[in-house]
Amino acid sequence: MRKKIVAGNWKMNKTYPEAIPLLYGIKDNLFRSQNVAGVLKIIAPPYPYLHDFYESTKGIKNFYVAAQNCSSEESGAFTGEVSAAMIKSVGAQYVILGHSERRQYFNESEQDIMKKVDLALKHDLIPIVCTGENSQSRKENRQFEIVSKQLSESLFHLSPEQFAKIIIAYEPIWAIGTGLTATTAQVQEMHHSIRSFIETKYGSDIAGGVSILYGGSCNVSNSAELFSCSDVDGGLIGGASLKAEDFSNIIRSFPS
Ligand code: PGA
Repeated sequence: MRKKIVAGNWKMNKTYPEAIPLLYGIKDNLFRSQNVAGVLKIIAPPYPYLHDFYESTKGIKNFYVAAQNCSSEESGAFTGEVSAAMIKSVGAQYVILGHSERRQYFNESEQDIMKKVDLALKHDLIPIVCTGENSQSRKENRQFEIVSKQLSESLFHLSPEQFAKIIIAYEPIWAIGTGLTATTAQVQEMHHSIRSFIETKYGSDIAGGVSILYGGSCNVSNSAELFSCSDVDGGLIGGASLKAEDFSNIIRSFPS
């Protein structure tokens, strides 16, 4: 059985006094609901809040904290960078890597993402690796080629044991923050293709076990339909993760 996962990517939003009530709002909302205990809930706040978030959620079943990125270097003179070891040392268990905003605004290459994945695994962090095509590639029907290339270049050097730890997030760039969600047919088709592609390299057991999340304008009104697709194991949520009630309702929207 694959894990069901909902991860909230807060991006560069919320000051500390705003972030704490939002976290408590999410916790309160989830406490009122029994049927989400089996869903893995992950929140990725900005770096400075990681330790506090860890401290205030550590007793809650299946509730974890993630960083939104980590350095591709181990340690040293890299002003402004945050290492995988540091992230692990403040209590985070997951790290989002290769988000399209990192690729686009910070010029992250597959090579950089590969190095980050290796460091994350070395320091016992679980990488949530993002992949997805832009609108031009989708228009040219090159989405499968783009996603396969991203996955093979950043992940296919891993051993089967290492790969089995990875979580994948399919996030078509044209759907991120735009309100333009991919259709369920497009999402299912891509998730199925990702799983088949993984199978060619790692075999059916590993491919069948990897959780593949959808991200890109996933919200309370479309999450139930998206999560009902057979190859969709949850969501990576941006905008809607900044509202306690919406985020909690997305967590509740898996088919029972
Ligand atoms: P969105 O962002 O839900 O606001 O589209 C998703 C993401 O970037 O992870």
